[in-house]
Amino acid sequence: MKKIVLLASGSGSNVENIARYFQDKEQVKITAVLSNRRDAKVLDRCNRLGINGLYFNRNSFYKSDVVQDILMALKPDLIILAGFLWKMPEKMIRSFPDKIINIHPALLPKYGGKGMYGDKVHQAVRDSGDLETGITIHYVNENYDEGTIIHQAKTAVSTEDTVETIAQKVHALEYEYFPKIIEQLLA
Ligand code: GAR
Repeated sequence: MKKIVLLASGSGSNVENIARYFQDKEQVKITAVLSNRRDAKVLDRCNRLGINGLYFNRNSFYKSDVVQDILMALKPDLIILAGFLWKMPEKMIRSFPDKIINIHPALLPKYGGKGMYGDKVHQAVRDSGDLETGITIHYVNENYDEGTIIHQAKTAVSTEDTVETIAQKVHALEYEYFPKIIEQLLA
């Protein structure tokens, strides 16, 4: 059995989608979902789904080894950032080589970097007049959104699209591909 841990900062709709995808599959188990926001909706979802949800603060992430030690103890086969907005500490990246992946709601290297998350990304795509956007699943390295790309999927954007409709299209791609790519990486 493979074990995964997810980190999320917000709503957690990807976490829920991944949890539902693997709920009847015995080969993969979500051992914990860690969130840096006490009031994040993802923690409510964990309660509903019967998954371990844990909150941690900035100190336990950046100034001590608390989160690092929790991750070491859980021995995950994959650490998955699913809408997680803090930069991963270098020590953590070194401790889990090729085991931390992230999903970004655009076609990297476009629209990545510090501060580029969620609707800000979709707004930038809309403002640019680009005719396509998509998702990028990639390994995490010490720079925001720069690790090796594992998978990208595209969707068309038109002048009629709003930030909301772009977000919907991108979420649809995330729900379709993220669990499958995780499954492939674990196989
Ligand atoms: C997702 O669209 C994910 O790609 C994005 O945050 C959203 C989280 O949604 N991540 C980033 O922007 C990372 N830079 P969710 O909480 O409903 O899964």
